[in-house]
Amino acid sequence: MRMYDLIEKKRNGKVLSEEEIQYFINGYTNDEIPDYQVSALLMAIYFQDMAEDERAALTTAMVNSGDTIDLSNINGIKVDKHSTGGVGDTTTLILAPLVASVGVPVAKMSGRGLGHTGGTIDKLESVPGFHVEITSDEFVRLVNKNKVAVIGQTGNLTPADKKLYSLRDVTATVNSIPLIASSIMSKKIASGADAIVLDVKTGAGAFMKEFDDAKSLAEAMVSIGNRVGRQTMAVISDMSQPLGRAVGNALEVKEAVETLKGEGPDDLTELCLTLGSQMVLLAKKAKTIEEARSMLKNNITNGKAFQQFKLFLEAQGGDAGVADRPEQLPQAAHKIELPAKTSGTVSEIIANDIGTAAMMLGAGRATKESKIDLAVGLVLHKKIGDRVKEGESLLTIHANDTNIENVKETLYQSISITSDSVNAPSLIYDMIT
Ligand code: URA
Ligand code: CA
Repeated sequence: MRMYDLIEKKRNGKVLSEEEIQYFINGYTNDEIPDYQVSALLMAIYFQDMAEDERAALTTAMVNSGDTIDLSNINGIKVDKHSTGGVGDTTTLILAPLVASVGVPVAKMSGRGLGHTGGTIDKLESVPGFHVEITSDEFVRLVNKNKVAVIGQTGNLTPADKKLYSLRDVTATVNSIPLIASSIMSKKIASGADAIVLDVKTGAGAFMKEFDDAKSLAEAMVSIGNRVGRQTMAVISDMSQPLGRAVGNALEVKEAVETLKGEGPDDLTELCLTLGSQMVLLAKKAKTIEEARSMLKNNITNGKAFQQFKLFLEAQGGDAGVADRPEQLPQAAHKIELPAKTSGTVSEIIANDIGTAAMMLGAGRATKESKIDLAVGLVLHKKIGDRVKEGESLLTIHANDTNIENVKETLYQSISITSDSVNAPSLIYDMIT
């Protein structure tokens, strides 16, 4: 086989065979095919797209390029959730214990964050003592015992994706549905889940700003998952504004605790119930979506979801007492209000820019080496559609520095207030099965 022929074939809009896709992925992973030829193929894929069979073959080849996680020693159907990324997205912290509380095994492998706020692991590390450096054996033991555990990235998962992603980043080929879908799905499949619930975000703060693009990505990922034997479904949800009210690591842990106790923001609670009931259904712990939802709601009301969260924290060395006393989480030195400059209705809270402001405070990493300030962040008091009076606080800035004029400026520019009436955006736009 020659790489030249594959490039020409795809350039001419033909379909690559499974063998051809394996050849190019293996050759690239082993440094036998040079970057310039792979770049040309990626650009051809960008323009010519891939058929569903090709997308599934690409995903499988990327999964097989490295280690895979074996969860077969964990009893039950392991369901994973993946979000395409948003601002203040605290759902994993809530869903893991919530879904575990009805008996679904949650074996979560998570990463640290880059940009915006931290990843799930960074957030959890704001609980004193909590750690994810556990062995695979301990991970399996904890999931069997407590139904939930989180482990940091282990093994050499999908090296082909890492190489391809870096190359796409510098060749203007990131934004391609078949390449994004196979990249995301290869990582999920390599981490061992039997079934996958995807939360595909759309709106100003999302990777896919337009609904039609989000829907195409969701359909592509669901098709790949089902073709490679993992039951997969996707929810398309709103990211035109941050989810919930808190943006920042310890602040999001506090918000997760409140939500697990039934006292969280409406949008965050609703999204967790929507995604969670799909997870429960795929894990076959309920017969209908209505039954799944009421099981989850009951465990919020009766305190079981909250207890599960404490059990989970304790099992990994965390001080579960902070769930009862969130004031013991890292606290910022200064709480600064951001007053509205005019009266009216909030019409826009650009999630990306809110994320940037949180990062400027220190809640996110600008580079992989940056250190995160777990205490800082923002708590929104107004969301799109809310009325506000001049001088009333739009949000509270939790900062460890008082020199934050640039942060305030970024925040003012990201929030619009109008004299017209504005409806709150929908939360759930579509479901793809
Ligand atoms: N996220 C991924 O993991 N891969 C992509 O290609 C794009 C977003
Ligand atoms: Ca939030």
